[in-house]
Amino acid sequence: MNKKKEKEIFDKLYKTAKENIHNSYSPYSKFKVSAALLANDGTIYTGINVENSSYGLTMCAERVAIFKAVSEGKKNFEAILLYTENESFIPPCGACRQVMTEFDPDLTIFLTNVYGEYKKMKLSDIFKWNFSL
Ligand code: THU
Repeated sequence: MNKKKEKEIFDKLYKTAKENIHNSYSPYSKFKVSAALLANDGTIYTGINVENSSYGLTMCAERVAIFKAVSEGKKNFEAILLYTENESFIPPCGACRQVMTEFDPDLTIFLTNVYGEYKKMKLSDIFKWNFSL
């Protein structure tokens, strides 16, 4: 991915994730997370965290996006972007790393902050020894 393509993808995913964060259902933690996942056919799937009064049933934004895509027959992805309203870059949790690695251990991940800055990495940089059957 060259720099121009990287910036184009970032801009599109950042705008999408930012616009959708209001849908985050997070009355308990008050921590809103929004994800935007780019499938390799160009479709963008959004995801937000969905909490539950039975806390352990909470679902992260990344997995919502991945499951939406897979349920529509998409399994090849270009990149996923995570957006929060934080000043710092928030990485995906371990469960989401395992779910993402199922489809692409080298998936490109954009961590972002509220200032519109980003860090680009590969899933394999932050998840080295995944469980697989
Ligand atoms: N959360 C995500 O949506 N993605 C992550 O990778 C980490 C955590 C959500 C779950 C919960 O609703 C809130 O952040 C606080 O843990």
